Amino acid sequence: MSNDLVIKDLRVNVADKEILKGLNLTIKQGTIHAVMGPNGSGKSTLAYTIAGHPNYEVTGGEIWYKGENILELEADERSRLGLFLAFQYPVSVPGVSVANFLRAAVNAHRAEEGKDAKQTAIPIAQYRKLLRENMASLQMDDTFARRYLNEGFSGGEKKRLEILQMSVLKPQMAVMDETDSGLDIDALRIVSDGVNKIFTPEMGVLVITHYQRLLNYIKPHVVSVMMEGQIVREGGPELALELEDKGYDWIREEVFGNAS
Ligand SMILES: Nc1ncnc2c1ncn2[C@@H]1O[C@H](COP(=O)(O)OP(=O)(O)OP(=O)(O)O)[C@@H](O)[C@H]1O
Ligand SMILES: [Mg+2]
Repeated sequence: MSNDLVIKDLRVNVADKEILKGLNLTIKQGTIHAVMGPNGSGKSTLAYTIAGHPNYEVTGGEIWYKGENILELEADERSRLGLFLAFQYPVSVPGVSVANFLRAAVNAHRAEEGKDAKQTAIPIAQYRKLLRENMASLQMDDTFARRYLNEGFSGGEKKRLEILQMSVLKPQMAVMDETDSGLDIDALRIVSDGVNKIFTPEMGVLVITHYQRLLNYIKPHVVSVMMEGQIVREGGPELALELEDKGYDWIREEVFGNAS
């Protein structure tokens, strides 16, 4: 059984328009894999589809993980399989602290069919220790855990929460979509330091971005380029540098034969 995430000939419609057009991509266990591509090429569509968002209609293809086609699983089942999708959880929940939100996420993972939630829930003392250790390792201030989720988190704080969530849940395959163009250099560092710290050879990470900048901090093992709903190039970290230098038109020209 493979712990790689294998996407085969994936076709996805959004609002009745085909956005992903037969996409093939494998994220290997033990690698940080960056997907880059111009605006509108379908990167976020890919992330939402992996997450199981209902607006994204899969019309063809498969996504294999741990011997299952995850397209047949509910979002929470995907998560329990060890997939982490940062935006899967609503970040704005009134009256819920960061600590309680993360505890609920941990308990959702520990839940077992046919067992009472009280039986499987993490003991409070053990949870406090887990949270404290992870926050210390990420150099986060204790007060962060007591903040309420809806209390005006900045872009950088949302990123911190995402990283802390990942650190506590220890997923085996993480998908991160760095869409927020408002992120400043500090927030980019939080994300990249966090990913570098959490990453182990047992894990796979898919980082979606159009920032070469992010990849200065997170060192990807593999870089894939997405264009018009397909993966059109794959290379090593040097490909990201080449894209920063030359843009996307040269690839467009090579692949589609014009620079429209
Ligand atoms: N809910 C939606 N309704 C209509 N069109 C959509 C919707 N979501 C995405 N699209 C369209 O799908 C295409 C791909 O969008 P997507 O967000 O996946 O691109 P992206 O590669 O993530 O772009 P960016 O780099 O700007 O984040 C775009 O043309 C977009 O307009
Ligand atoms: Mg996007």
